[in-house]
Amino acid sequence: MTRPEVSLVEVGPRDGLQNEKTPIPTGAKVRFIEALAAAGHRRIEAAAFVSPKAVPQLADATAVMMGLSRADGVVYSALVPNEKGYEAARAADVDEVAVFTAASDTFNLRNTHATIDASFERFAPVVAQAVRDGVRVRGYVSTAVVCPFEGPIAPERAAGVAERLLDLGCFEVSLGDTIGKAVPPDVVRLLDACRARGILDRVAGHFHDTWGFGVANVMAAFDAGVRVFDASAGGLGGCPYAPGAGGNVATEDLVALFDALGVRTGVDLGAVVSAAEALETHIGRSVGGRAAAAWKAACRRDGG
Ligand code: HMG
Ligand code: MG
Repeated sequence: MTRPEVSLVEVGPRDGLQNEKTPIPTGAKVRFIEALAAAGHRRIEAAAFVSPKAVPQLADATAVMMGLSRADGVVYSALVPNEKGYEAARAADVDEVAVFTAASDTFNLRNTHATIDASFERFAPVVAQAVRDGVRVRGYVSTAVVCPFEGPIAPERAAGVAERLLDLGCFEVSLGDTIGKAVPPDVVRLLDACRARGILDRVAGHFHDTWGFGVANVMAAFDAGVRVFDASAGGLGGCPYAPGAGGNVATEDLVALFDALGVRTGVDLGAVVSAAEALETHIGRSVGGRAAAAWKAACRRDGG
């Protein structure tokens, strides 16, 4: 019998770092991304070509992309909010881009100075050009369950925005629990709404772990049929425009979970622990979720 598998999208270099206040040297970002590829990741969101005023930490996106030794078979993607970002991403030779909007106008206005409808007007030329260039476009729907300003979001509303992104030409849409307040029943309701629209096989889960519900939400989504999950090495992350957003669910926690379930991720737990640990001197604190701590304790017991 073939082993079931999931695809992990490593968002540590983008979502993970974007909220860090201390500037991280470009070389450390490059080494982080290279270590994540060496750990077995095949999809890495490596940068964001957004306004440097909006996210100063990622202002060196071009230098990061150009500094990388790229591994065969790895897709290096980047966030782009508009045509300017798309052009810069292409010039830096990204393999795939991601456009991002939200299920709440208030959050989207804070994050990108555009309503949901206005963001679609911005994306239309980006996606059209990407199609001409043969570049795949991923979509994000932030605040897919709860908005920090508007409160709970109806599942139908989030699923509707996801469907619009797919209709526009995105090959996949990542559903973001931006502030990590969703619990498994919320996830099930959202995925039911996606199933009703016939888009369940093209959605991914992006769960922030602010309240410690990330792994439970991934499990609920996996049980509902989702097979693509975003995760961040070290559990880093958060959106500067979403008050109360904690880090993403840690890659280490998902690799450990799926390893224990016999589900293939292709990613090596110990190698991700080391990749995240290497950032600690730059960000000035220790990182890693529960599984990273358990892994380190087991290594100490084994004398490794
Ligand atoms: P704006 O100020 O409305 O845009 O920002 P503008 O077109 O008026 O341009 C203003 C200035 O920005 C100009 O420069 C432009 O050239 C420059 P100035 O003349 O003032 O010197 N500019 C750019 N520079 C570089 N790259 C660009 C770019 N575009 C304009 N692409 C804009 C609108 C969308 C650009 C801005 O608000 C922005 O960049 N926002 C991004 C915010 C962001 O990155 N948030 C975090 C990522 S989303 C997230 O974390 C959620 C997610 O993880 C899922 C989840 O968890 O839910 C994906
Ligand atoms: Mg996020």
